[in-house]
Amino acid sequence: MSAISRRLLLGSAAVLGSFSALPAFAQARLAPTPPATEGPFYPRTFPLDADSDLVQVAGRSGRARGTILYLAGKVVNRDGRPISGAEVEIWQCDAGGIYHHVGSYSRGADPNFQGYGKARTAADGAFRFRTIKPVPYTGRTPHIHVIVAGQGLPKLTTQIYNAGEAQNERDFLFRSIAPDARESVLMKFRPASDLEAGALHTETRLVIAV
Ligand SMILES: [Fe+2]
Repeated sequence: MSAISRRLLLGSAAVLGSFSALPAFAQARLAPTPPATEGPFYPRTFPLDADSDLVQVAGRSGRARGTILYLAGKVVNRDGRPISGAEVEIWQCDAGGIYHHVGSYSRGADPNFQGYGKARTAADGAFRFRTIKPVPYTGRTPHIHVIVAGQGLPKLTTQIYNAGEAQNERDFLFRSIAPDARESVLMKFRPASDLEAGALHTETRLVIAV
């Protein structure tokens, strides 16, 4: 064995030794989900139908344009424990790149897309939305805006992005996230034809800074 590999071996043994000596409470806590600006398109007036299905508007038979996305999420604290009873709001532009419920900006909006929705986390911290896969609009890479709020919780305002989207690297808000935190706000999609023809599914975890 060379002197170098002996040193490496001894070095790694020393590292392992120091890790095993760490007390249990020193285990790393989860990094909070990086916050992001609310932006100018949070609803000014709320739709009558503000449920967790953004693809179907109450009283209308049509379905929103775009690729259906089942967004399953979980709200946890920094120890990974579920947070129940929190309110999760999402809003995003429609398949034509138009935000709803923001006055004149909403002209030409897809009438079958709700644009905004709310859900409450269950005992296991889970929430679910049916929406569309985000599309770009002028100046921004595709994203969904999210707010999580609850009694005694610091409010989290953030945005989640399509994984693998080339435009992410050029987006000023995505680039403002620390590189090692970007993964946590990326949605990875998989086909969800079992749920609905042509639909996608994704899972996201939102870590509240408590
Ligand atoms: Fe936006």
